[in-house]
Order: sequence, then structure tokens, then C-alpha cells
Amino acid sequence: MSEGSEPASTAVRRDRFSGGPARDFLSSMGADDRIFQADLAVDRAHVVMLAEQGIVEEDDAASILRALDDVEASGFGALPDGEDVHEAIETAVIERVGPDGGKMHTARSRNDEVATCIRYRLREDVLDAVEQVVAFREVLADAAEAEAETVMPGFTHLQPAQPTTVGHYLLSYERALARDTARLLDAYERVNQSPLGGAAFAGTPFDIDRQRTAELLGFDGVVENATDAGSARDFLFETTSALAGLSLTLSGLAEDLVIFANKGLVELSDDYSSTSSIMPQKKNPDTLELVRSVAGDAAAGLQGLLTTLKGLPRAYNRDLQNATPHAWGAVDAVSEAVEVAAGAVATAEWPAETLEAEAEKGFSCATGVADVLAMHGVPFRTAHEVVADAGEAGGDLDAVAAACEDVLGKPLGEVADVEAVAAALDPASNVAMRDSRGGPAPSAVEQTLGVVASDLAADADEAEAKRLALDAATDRLDAGVDSYE
Ligand code: ARG
Repeated sequence: MSEGSEPASTAVRRDRFSGGPARDFLSSMGADDRIFQADLAVDRAHVVMLAEQGIVEEDDAASILRALDDVEASGFGALPDGEDVHEAIETAVIERVGPDGGKMHTARSRNDEVATCIRYRLREDVLDAVEQVVAFREVLADAAEAEAETVMPGFTHLQPAQPTTVGHYLLSYERALARDTARLLDAYERVNQSPLGGAAFAGTPFDIDRQRTAELLGFDGVVENATDAGSARDFLFETTSALAGLSLTLSGLAEDLVIFANKGLVELSDDYSSTSSIMPQKKNPDTLELVRSVAGDAAAGLQGLLTTLKGLPRAYNRDLQNATPHAWGAVDAVSEAVEVAAGAVATAEWPAETLEAEAEKGFSCATGVADVLAMHGVPFRTAHEVVADAGEAGGDLDAVAAACEDVLGKPLGEVADVEAVAAALDPASNVAMRDSRGGPAPSAVEQTLGVVASDLAADADEAEAKRLALDAATDRLDAGVDSYE
């Protein structure tokens, strides 16, 4: 091994390739704090495997593992100079162990090492995001249950459309977030594969055990092809894409709440509002406006990744170093927005009387009246015409009766049950009629809540199982390290 003859301080070869004036430009140290713990774990797993395979002597493994403990205790800020965290940790180990510390980098490269570190850290971030989204969905489900009977205006094209319930409205976002959860969990499966042991791109002559390092690090399997292992970053854009989708869901909810707050349809907590520096009367929904804006951060991250990754030749290229922070930025921005949105919804109040009064406006009950006429045998298109005419004449029961005479040449009482028509003109009973599967009637909302509860339990279980698998891997790695230290 060549490093045996080199002084410890130059074991990582920076005598000639120091980077010169481009040193800072080359360095990823500014972003690498995030994968400091990951790199320590990857180093430990690799060294344990090397020792188990007889590639590195047990004594050397023990010295390196002790040095890694010391490097960890000193912290990221105490690392020696290095082009990146991988090199800096290796230098720190060599400083402590001497040239034999350089055996740590046997049978691997920074290419498989950094790819492993990113995946190791990202799966933690994805799992955090999943747990946050699940918690938000629980908030939405609880609020939906509490407001299952609270009638509110429903809008299409931002125009009053049909009365609905707050419960039904909130569950529409819970369902969207359920799919966002599924996309994150799906991405997790492909993040959680180990590239370690792929080496630079072309494998290694050493008798390494890639499955063993994967197990020690809690990966479900290995990225089979060594070139693919170090080059692939599709797991980054897949995760960022799932986060961008999630940010779109959040942005729609935030936009709704901004509009609802403006119309007095929801009362946001002061904790999630802001005021003006000049206009003392103002209570602005700033936090939700910022939640809405996070879709821009996530889309920027996704675009940054796709553009950076486009057309890269095989195998590792330094462009990849600049790809990673796009994913970190997206995961941080979106996760924070999830928590804030959840807090805003959990503390929001729905003013029932105002909501019901507003639900009646704009002849929102019209479709329900047409439905009643159609249920009595009037072709829906004709019923639509009757009710449209009634709307122009004020949209009350008298107007419906007059339109009925005009269009059908018969009194309303001969066409339909007048009480049923009157009920359709009342927002609460109008909503209660629409009890089809997935509908807004309190009974239908109740049923959807059952589906929501079982999906939530399943997703929470899946996240917990993944968390436990990671904890078990940490224990395995600790045991592996203990057996040499
Ligand atoms: N800091 C680098 C990154 O983030 C590590 C890999 C460097 N590998 C290399 N062959 N230059 O990608």
C-alpha cells in the first residue's frame, strides 16, 4: 500500500492536487455537514466488513474504529482541511492512527462512498417527511370529524357552486396527502439500496461482501452494477419529485385558506398570522402564503436536479456533487411547510353560522333542486332549465314554482314533492342529500373517515417498521464495531 511510505499528513494526496485557486470551488465541505454522521457510519460498516473478510487486520480495524469514535466526538467543525467530508475524515483517521489508517479506503472509492452517504441520510429525511405528512393527515382527519356536519360553501372556478361540509373539504386534502405519502414511501424503496463496494465504477479485486455492508447500514439490498452504483442519482430526483408533488398539494390548501380567511370563512390563529408594520388593523395569512411559495423551492430543486443530471456520461462526474444540495433544499423546505400547514389547520376555527349563511349565496342550492326534480322523473336537462330560470327570478321556492309552470306547464306540486324541493333549498339538507360514496353528506364523510383511518394506520405502521429496521441496523453496526474495538 503506497500510503505506508507517505507521511501521515499527506496520506490523502493533496500535495499536487490541492485545487489551487479553485480550492473552494471544488470543495463540498459547505454542504457536507449533513452527511458527517452518514460518512462515519459508512466508514464503520466498511471497516467492519473489511476485517470480517480478512482484508484488513483486526488490530488495524480496531485502531481505525477507535479513531472514528474520536473524530465523531470532536465533531464536524474539528475536521482537518479536506476537499470533502470523506477526505477530511480519512485524513483525521490517518492523523490519529498513522499510515495504517489509510487502510480504511481499501476496496472503495469516494464515488460509491458519497452515493452511500447521500442515500443513508436521505432515507432518514424521507422518513421524517413521511411521519410529518402522516401527522398532518391525522390533524386533517380529526378536524374533518369535528366539522363533519359543518356546512360551508363549495366553489368551482372560485364561484359558489354547491354547499359542502368542512369535513368533506378537509378530507379532500387528506386524500391527496395520502397519495403524496405513497409516492414518498415508494421512492424510499429505491433510495434504500446500497452502492457501497461499487468502488470507483468498476468493482475491486478484494473479496468484499457488499451484502454485509448493506445489512450493517440498514439497506434493503445493493445497487447491483458497480458503475450504476456510483453514478445513479435518479433516487434524488425521484424523491425531490415526490416532494414537489407534496408541495403542490400544500400550495393548493394554503391558497384555499388564504382565500377563505379573506372571505371570513375560516379564522386563522394569530400564531399563524402576521400583521403589517404600518397598518395596525391588519391580520395577514403570511405563514400560509409562505407555505404556498414552497412549491417554488421544490420545483426549483427538481429542475436543478434534472438539468444537472441531464446528459452526464458514465460514470462519476463532479457535477454530481452539485446535484445533491438541490434535494436537501427541497426536503428541508417542504418538510417545514408541512409542519406549518399542519399547525395552521390544527388551530384554525370554522365559523359555522357564517359558513352556512354563505353556503346559501349565489343560488348554490340550484343543483340540488334540479336533482330533486330529476328524481321525480323530469329529465335532468329540463330540470336544469327550470332551475336556471328560477335562479334568474330570485332562486327561492316561489321562483322554482313559477319556473316550473313556465317550462313544464304544470304546478310544482304535480311535478315533485314540494317539501323535498324546499329541503333542497336549505344548505344543510341539500348537503345531506348527497350521500353517495365519497360525497359531502355527514354520513358519507363518516364512511370516508373509516377509509382514512385504516390508510393512516397502515402508513404509520409502514413508517414505524422502516424506522425500526434502521434502528436495528444501527444496533447491528454498533455490535460489529464493538467486536473489534
Ligand atoms: N464530494 C464529492 C461528491 O459530493 C465526493 C466524490 C468525489 N469523487 C471524485 N471522483 N472526485 O460527489
